[in-house]
Amino acid sequence: APILLSDYRAPAWQVEQIELDFDLGIDATQVRSCLRLRRDSTQATPLCLDGEGLELLTIMLDGQLLSPDDYRYADNVLEIDHAHDGSVLETRVRLNPAANTALEGLYLSGPRESGFLLTQCEAQGFRHITFFPDQPDVLASYTVTLRADRARFPVLLAGGNPDGAGDLDGGRHWARFVDPHPKPSYLFALVAGRLEKIGREYVTADGRPVQLVIWAEADAIERCHYAMDALERSMRWDEQAYGRNYDLDVFHVVATHDFNMGAMENKGLNIFNAKYLLADPDSTTDDEYRAVEAVVAHEYFHNWSGNRVTCRDWFQLSLKEGLTVFREQQFSADMNSPALKRIEDVALLRRAQFPEDAGPLAHPVRPAEYREINNFYTATVYEKGSELVRMLAGRLGQAGFRRGMDRYFEHNDGHAATLEDFLGALGEANDIDLMPYLAWYGQAGTPRMKARGHYDAAQHSYTLTLTQHTLPTPGQAHKRALPIPVKLALFATDGRMLPLHLDGHSNALGDEHVIVLEQAEQSFVFRNIDAAPIPSLLRGFSAPVILDGDYAPTELALLLRHDIDGFNRWEAAQQLASRAYDALRDGGDTTALTAWCDALAELFDDELFADDALLADLLSPPGEIELAEREQVVDPARVHALRQELQQRLGARIGAGPLLRRYEALAAQTNRQLDASSQAQRRLKRRVLELLALIDAPAAHAVAAGQYQDAPSMTDRLAALAVLVRGNAPQATLALAHFRERYAGDPLALDKWFSVQTQLPGELTLARVQLLAGDPAFTLKNPNRVNALFGAWARSNPAGFHRADGAGYRWLVQQLRPLDALNPQVAARLATVLNGWKRLEPVRREAARSAISSLTTGPELSRNLTEIVQNILGDS
Ligand code: ARG
Ligand code: ZN
Repeated sequence: APILLSDYRAPAWQVEQIELDFDLGIDATQVRSCLRLRRDSTQATPLCLDGEGLELLTIMLDGQLLSPDDYRYADNVLEIDHAHDGSVLETRVRLNPAANTALEGLYLSGPRESGFLLTQCEAQGFRHITFFPDQPDVLASYTVTLRADRARFPVLLAGGNPDGAGDLDGGRHWARFVDPHPKPSYLFALVAGRLEKIGREYVTADGRPVQLVIWAEADAIERCHYAMDALERSMRWDEQAYGRNYDLDVFHVVATHDFNMGAMENKGLNIFNAKYLLADPDSTTDDEYRAVEAVVAHEYFHNWSGNRVTCRDWFQLSLKEGLTVFREQQFSADMNSPALKRIEDVALLRRAQFPEDAGPLAHPVRPAEYREINNFYTATVYEKGSELVRMLAGRLGQAGFRRGMDRYFEHNDGHAATLEDFLGALGEANDIDLMPYLAWYGQAGTPRMKARGHYDAAQHSYTLTLTQHTLPTPGQAHKRALPIPVKLALFATDGRMLPLHLDGHSNALGDEHVIVLEQAEQSFVFRNIDAAPIPSLLRGFSAPVILDGDYAPTELALLLRHDIDGFNRWEAAQQLASRAYDALRDGGDTTALTAWCDALAELFDDELFADDALLADLLSPPGEIELAEREQVVDPARVHALRQELQQRLGARIGAGPLLRRYEALAAQTNRQLDASSQAQRRLKRRVLELLALIDAPAAHAVAAGQYQDAPSMTDRLAALAVLVRGNAPQATLALAHFRERYAGDPLALDKWFSVQTQLPGELTLARVQLLAGDPAFTLKNPNRVNALFGAWARSNPAGFHRADGAGYRWLVQQLRPLDALNPQVAARLATVLNGWKRLEPVRREAARSAISSLTTGPELSRNLTEIVQNILGDS
């Protein structure tokens, strides 16, 4: 049965204090736990503790050894009679970390002989370690003692402050950690093994000295310096932007190659997927550098938005994730270019979240029910959740939002909170009722907003009529109107922004203003307007909606040329490119195609336009997934072909000569520096090379082969390799062999070798993916490797994955079973690539349906994969 938000009850039992003792070993670890209990309810609710896969050794209640008559352990719940307020419960269990392939709870990273032990508890891994009420509204004080063989496990770490360490008999040693801040069990962590470190002293703004330490295996430790800098920047930023200081004497960060997600904010002991921590120019791309900075910041920011103020229950997950993504986006915007960051985030939202919201897995940012919480660490909870915080922040303005956040942290510090607490604090601190925005948290689906303008020459007025509509999603047939803040400006045909005089406002409003659409339909009248204006709507992407703006192509081209804001220019270019795509698909009127090509060719030639990174983004049309979202019935091969043709037209309009000359000018500046202009140069160089490959493949491939050889950075190297592979160029074979050899010892670089080959065009893809799955370096046990091969194939090469004969679906589904047996979380996430099957054209649709359905018969799947498969199939 699903777990329902409406069933939430405050826990009857709290744990005030937990003492944990670990005797660590690779295939046998003993855990002794001592809980001091508090009864919070007057009703005689029995004490129930979660525990999964635990070998129970003994239970003692208040010093008495319990016999099996005094407790029941069934269905992963341990029920204990006779506990009372103040009771002390001691349990001893045994675990086998080496056998834990699900990477949840305590597990081994790397080979048995040399690997290290670590934990992942969010969401419900703690119950795989010991018996405990494993839910986020039980906050306890932790004292953790680790014991292990000193030679095999020289480093012993747990969350909190160090509280002693020493030797034991028989070559063993111990270390103790005490966390002064009560915390939920999902924030517990330990790490034990052979690790190297780099350290730095930090003093918080409020004067606390903190030891920052990053730990990694010996071959990786020199790649941690960038992350250390990013950590220091994050800590300073949170002090300045939000007044938040760190609150322990130490802050440990650990890198592992074996991790289900990106990283984890365990109190005082963050654990990272190595992909988001290690960085050096030889093996890390520019995009990955920015991702490292963002994830380091994200996990650090959780110390306040997540740890000091945590979630009452898992339905509130976006309370910490949406908020922390938003804080991380603000930080990244401050560290880099705000416009580029916004472009990247909106593109991600459209690529990952909009399709989720439009398909069978659609769910509200605050889901009302789930079977497996790990299936809800989604783009909706994270990315859409961040957009909702952004709307609230926009509504309050910078000072008001800060005031509201101060109130939120102050009122909820040390508590497990809800989204109501969040909106309440933000609103109360500003005397504004934000509760109407709660509707966004409960309603799935992306609202579609239609905008229609009418100019009345006699009245000198412009009436903007906005309507909203949200399509039904599974389990939510009827949708209501949501408050949609629309940031707008009006442009004159010469490209000037017009001062806004809005009906109902006595003063002029400057040239940019936010109106809020609250009903299904509303009109807004602007006065003192001398000629029909061109509206620029949803500026900065002020609300996560799909806009139907009814623009003439020339109007979009004007916005593309004249807007001063980089994001808005990009948005105009995206809309114009979509219209150009429609024109190609439908034939006939080519105005949009011509307008798009002309506007971009003009910018390309404009010597005064100096922003190379923005130009690269402007020259990129929406991706295949986004374009497919515009179709009623999707043929991925056709979407791919049309998008290629669209880019060919652009390339041809600019011309091979100018592209090559621009490439050479950019290549003359090649370096491996990370400053903004060096990154921008690489980004534009890649885009220019891609366009050239579409109109003069032999020339582009010759250039790419040279770039591959001489590249001083992974960014340039991988960009060149991708052009060769995508074009199925003869030079690809040698380059791939070279890459394989050169990076054989570097798992993160090798992941890229797997990924790039999934981008072979069309019918060639599947055979290569199958070949790679048999490569000795491939393993289903490593999530990064699985995602690098299967994930990249299915997500980044839709035309290669969605073969008309259905062989892609069948083969992927065959991999899901063995993967599920090893790691249910990774299997379930991979299965979501089939989310869009219902909108495929009939032949692929039937092939996909039959492949997915084959999972519903045969041996039982994990709860994770079962839920995804059932939801994807729906009532079909
Ligand atoms: N809280 C982590 C973050 O920073 C995500 C961990 C989720 N892990 C999981 N197995 N569900 O986003
Ligand atoms: Zn997070």
